[in-house]
Amino acid sequence: MAFKLTEDFKARAEKLCARYPRRDAALIPVLLELQKEAGYVAEEAMDELAKFLALPYARVKAVVTFYTMFNREPAGKYHLQVCRNISCHMAGAPGLLARLRAKLGIGEGETTKDGLFTLSAVECLGACGAAPVMQVNEDYFENLNGEKLDALLEDIKHGRLRAGGR
Ligand code: FES
Repeated sequence: MAFKLTEDFKARAEKLCARYPRRDAALIPVLLELQKEAGYVAEEAMDELAKFLALPYARVKAVVTFYTMFNREPAGKYHLQVCRNISCHMAGAPGLLARLRAKLGIGEGETTKDGLFTLSAVECLGACGAAPVMQVNEDYFENLNGEKLDALLEDIKHGRLRAGGR
């Protein structure tokens, strides 16, 4: 079945577009809105969005594939993105990833059976001074270690996730 942007989504997207001098400048906020609604940005959604914003499809696709915050397939409710670049690597990111793999029983790029978590290793999140860093949906968790990670997972499982928990 062909993908269709809902009228409700279009209304919200129009409001976002109105905040910018040019319609194409709203691409990232509109994509985030789409992902919030659908959980991911499907191929057909990129096509529809390109038409809606009067942009080339290739531009939308380039943005979605460049930024790791965009999921191209259905993802878990919580997308755990562990930075694997040099600062985080030196500060223990490989251990965090191994811990997450063991605790969740999934590998990178996979989602737990209950649909709660998707695990990814991503490039620099731009918070190297607070390495190691993990992004959970739109929030950053910095200076992580094994204990903090365990506590964070428990908070998420019990619906107690607090944004920016450092
Ligand atoms: S290296 Fe991890 S945030 Fe930059």
